[in-house]
Order: sequence, then structure tokens, then C-alpha cells
Amino acid sequence: MKKAWSGRFTGKTSKIVEQYTESISFDQRLWKYDIEGSIAHAKMLGKQGIIPKKDADKIIGALTDIYSDIEKGRFRFSIELEDIHMNIEAALIKKIGDIGGRLHTARSRNDQVALDLRLYLRAETKEIIGLLKKLADTLCAIAAKNSEAIMPGYTHMQRAQPVLLSHHLLAYAQMFSRDRERFEDCLKRINILPLGSCALAGTSLPIDRDYVAKLLNFDAISENSIDAVSDRDFALEFLSASSILMMHLSRIAEELVLWSTEEFSFIELPDAFTTGSSIMPQKKNPDVAELMRGKTGRVYGSLMSLLTLMKGLPLAYNRDMQEDKEPVFDTVDTVKLTLNALIQMLPEIKFNSTRLKYTAGAAFSTATDLAEYLVRKDIPFRTAHEITGKIVRYCIDNKKDLKDLSLAEYKKFSAKIGKDINSCLTTEQSVRSKNSFGGTSVSKVKEQLARFKKKNG
Ligand code: ARG
Repeated sequence: MKKAWSGRFTGKTSKIVEQYTESISFDQRLWKYDIEGSIAHAKMLGKQGIIPKKDADKIIGALTDIYSDIEKGRFRFSIELEDIHMNIEAALIKKIGDIGGRLHTARSRNDQVALDLRLYLRAETKEIIGLLKKLADTLCAIAAKNSEAIMPGYTHMQRAQPVLLSHHLLAYAQMFSRDRERFEDCLKRINILPLGSCALAGTSLPIDRDYVAKLLNFDAISENSIDAVSDRDFALEFLSASSILMMHLSRIAEELVLWSTEEFSFIELPDAFTTGSSIMPQKKNPDVAELMRGKTGRVYGSLMSLLTLMKGLPLAYNRDMQEDKEPVFDTVDTVKLTLNALIQMLPEIKFNSTRLKYTAGAAFSTATDLAEYLVRKDIPFRTAHEITGKIVRYCIDNKKDLKDLSLAEYKKFSAKIGKDINSCLTTEQSVRSKNSFGGTSVSKVKEQLARFKKKNG
């Protein structure tokens, strides 16, 4: 097959070079965007009289046919034609002959590939934003359904203070809402048209870049042709936002793994989202949650790949940059699949509220409430902390709970303790008292949920 760039060559490309330099095996995924971009480019060439209007129309007609050929699986991608751009251009020339050769006027694969990647990432980022909204909605619905369920809150993986399950779940909703903002912000820098930068210097032909931007719904056109063909910041931002998102997903996944253990018994995962063991008949393994945690690694890896790829590259385009695609594609697939799995799994999870409440009240979880009670009796917090610590020590030594001590026993630790001590020792009292903004009381969490829903739209 004759290569589009073969004019200055006399020798043939060796097979290993074709194998080594091809990208069609993975960049064929960009076909829709490549054609969409080419149609806009052809329209502009025709409008500007850079090519005859009737040739532009012919090109657009043939590109539309190629679009439906690919859509119907009737297109053979060829490795000898390197990449998606050459494959489509060759098909075009095969269909309409020399006229097809006019399409690549005032364009280079360097600005073309940057365009394709931006169009692709724009569509995928919007989809991910939609999934993040859905995930936050799902968490809000579960929080609303369990608005008063109490669970132990942890620090250092040790039971710390009772909190509302809804509060804990909304913590994740907050994370996913920040993720959504990051993707929305990223979209601003994705949505800039690089086409018209050509190889690196621009062109001597009278192109109309604003017109192309309008046709393709770009917010702006790139300012500097050298930058436009060598910039992959938008893809790096996408991968960073994805990495932070996966970090959040792996944290919720880890909690689901822990909570579903016999030891915790906080939740039961749906059968549909667990798997059995090939040897141990009793097992029900949280594989989906584990893989959510595990797949985070490949997304971080993709970010590292692209950062390393771009580091030290001289301006402008370098073929190294062809390696940008696989990490981006893999990340898009991983993030979307993970979000979809979580969105489907969450509503099916059964919470064991009795167990949650029981564990929330154990292990002296209301000790901080007792210290705050003493503060209200005008004892400095440090002293109150010391007194409460001694009370806890006494309880451990005598195998008692804070609720089991008599007033006389309490009084031995501080004369300021009165009958009203009973107002701060249960988990319900503890939770109810956390009325500070952003705190865990039922009313504050309800307010948080209402604000969140308004913002999440
Ligand atoms: N397949 C190439 C890539 O992904 C397209 C651009 C090639 N440009 C070039 N001048 N060789 O980067």
C-alpha cells in the first residue's frame, strides 16, 4: 500500500518499523472524532475558497459514507496506514480519487491528532461528570433513607465517636462533588480548538479558525500554533482528576470490604456484586469492591506514564506523543466502569443498623462528650480530658461502661459532676449534641444534605 508521505522516499518501510510505529490498533477508537473534525475542516476549506466548494461537498459526502461504513463494521483498518488519520484519508482517496487529496490542505496530523484527542476527551469527560452526579444522587438517597442510623466514627481505625451513617456517606458525596468540579474545570482547557496550527507554524492559506471552532462547539481557539501541537496538559489534567477520583473510590471500596467482614458485620453486600470461592464453599467475597481499590493503581500508572512521556520533550510535536493515547483510553474505561459498578452496587447494600448502633456505643465512644460536659461545668478542657481519662481507666479496671457508674463513683473524680451527667452518655445524646455547622447531629446532617442536593443539581 502506497504511503501518503512516500514522495521523498525511494526505499520501502521495513515491517518492524510498521509494527513499531503503528497506532491504528488503538487509535481507531478516535474514528468518529477524526471524521467529525475532517468534515468541519472541509466545510471551512470550501467556504474560504481554498478548495472548490463542489470538492468540499464531495469530500464531506464521502466522509459521511466512511462514517457509516465504520459504524456498520464494514471498514478494514490497515496497519500499513499507521494511524486513524491515514486510514480514513486513504479510504477517502480510494472513494473519490484526487479530490480526496485536497482534504489535508492547511492541516497536519499534528493538529489533527490534538483535535481528535480533545473531541474524544470532551465527550468522555461530560459522561464522567454525569456519572459523578448520579453517584452523588445515589449516596444522598441512601443518606436520606438512613437519616438517623448511628455508627461508630473512626480515627486511626479505632472507634472514636458516634456519628450518623448519613453523615459518613455524605463525606463521600462531598468528595465526588469536588471530583466533578475538577472535571468541569478540566473541560474548560480541553475545549480549545488546536486545528489550524498545522504542523507547528500555522499556514499561508486563508483559513478561518473561528468558523471551525463554531462548527465543532469549541469555546476558544488556541493562541500559539507551536504550543497547540505540543500541549497535552488537558490530558494530564484529565488523568490527575481521574487519579484523585480513583483514590476516593478506593477509599469507599476499602470501607465496603472491611464493613462486609464477619468482624465488622456492618453491611451485607448483594449477591450480585460478590463472588464465591472455588474451594471454600462458605465464602462470599467482595471482589467488585476489591477491584475498585485495585484498579486505582493502573490509573495512577497512566498519570505517571503521561507525565514521564511529556517531560523533557522539546517543542513542538514529537512522535513520543503517540504514546499518550493508551493511558488515556485505559483511564476512561476504568473510571467509567468503576463508577457504573458502584452506582449499581450501593443501593443494594444492606446496613446492619443494630450492629452499627451497638458498636457505636461501645469502647467508651462518648468519653469526649463527658469531657465536654465537664467543660460546661467550667473545668478547663485539659483538666477535663485528664479527669475523663481517669474515669475510663477506672471503668476498664472494673469492667464497667460509662453508663454503669453511679453518681457517687463519678463524684470521686470531680465534685462538679451532677445528676445531669446522664444527659451525655448515650450515643443518641452524643450525636444530638454535635450541633456545630457541618457536625453529626440529625438536624445538621439534614441541612448538609439539603445544601448538597441544591448544589449537586
Ligand atoms: N499517530 C500519531 C500520533 O498519535 C499522529 C501524528 C503523527 N504526526 C506525525 N507527524 N508523524 O501522535
